Amino acid sequence: MIRAGRLAGTDAAEIWVKLEGANPTGSYKDRMALAMIEGAERDGRLSPGQTVVEYTGGSTGSSLAFVCAVKGYPLRIVSSDAFAVEKLATMRAFGAQVELVPSPSGITPDLIPAMMRRAAEIAAETGAFATDQFNNTDMIDGYRGLGEELNRQVAGPIAAFCSYVGTAGCFLGTSRALREAAPDLHRVVVEPGESAVLSGRPAGTHHIEGGGTGRRPPQLHEHEYDEVIAVPGVEAFAMARAAARTEGVFSGPSTGANLVAALQVARRLGPGHRVVTIQVDSGLKYLAGSLYAEPRPGL
Ligand SMILES: Cc1ncc(COP(=O)(O)O)c(C=O)c1O
Repeated sequence: MIRAGRLAGTDAAEIWVKLEGANPTGSYKDRMALAMIEGAERDGRLSPGQTVVEYTGGSTGSSLAFVCAVKGYPLRIVSSDAFAVEKLATMRAFGAQVELVPSPSGITPDLIPAMMRRAAEIAAETGAFATDQFNNTDMIDGYRGLGEELNRQVAGPIAAFCSYVGTAGCFLGTSRALREAAPDLHRVVVEPGESAVLSGRPAGTHHIEGGGTGRRPPQLHEHEYDEVIAVPGVEAFAMARAAARTEGVFSGPSTGANLVAALQVARRLGPGHRVVTIQVDSGLKYLAGSLYAEPRPGL
């Protein structure tokens, strides 16, 4: 946990950032992968040695590949070339069988549904257990610990929480735990400006991996959040770079989006309040892409 004092400056609320990049596979998804597998083991949906199948942009897949390697479950992954090559290589390193749905222009509104369909086919053909992250309820519980840690680690009451949503598991699990300590917590979901469907705008193609799937996450109901902030990709990328240089927070575009939103809320609230957000994953996952490449045309 760090306080991002340089980014916030003196005229804004405090910004606290929970650092999740040091989890075993470098992202907060390790929490939910373990929760999905252990939840299924507990109630018998998953038997010893059974194959597991998932559709994923790569972070969930890396975490599941790690957990399945340790526990001895073969893993089939459906992913895409729209996502970081480091993530695809990580899944393979842990022994997962990875299949790609081509999407060279980026994360299009059709991509995640196509990946979901292919994962469902594999489950039907092979009898594999489908973790089905978007509809899995165990994965939300996997993030409760994150919220409980924040309640212990932030020095004072938390006024607001901002989180970029894909499945919305992190947002939901964390904000539910935070609300137990701060019932008035202002809950902000963050989405890409180019595919701002929660803001009522049309779905589109974008480059902030991990969210902006072009539809409402099925477990994210309107009463679970208070505000939506849409962050353009170019701002999320610029903020990710700035956070590394000014705060030592080395991360990816979704963390950049989280910080853009947190700064917006912190400026609105002003000094004397605390805004919390999350470093989703390590910048090591993005070194081969355009985020940290020099020079940087466009993004
Ligand atoms: C890099 C990255 N950022 C953010 C998210 C969003 O997290 P969640 O699925 O918990 O909403 C994900 C999810 O895949 C991700 O991979």
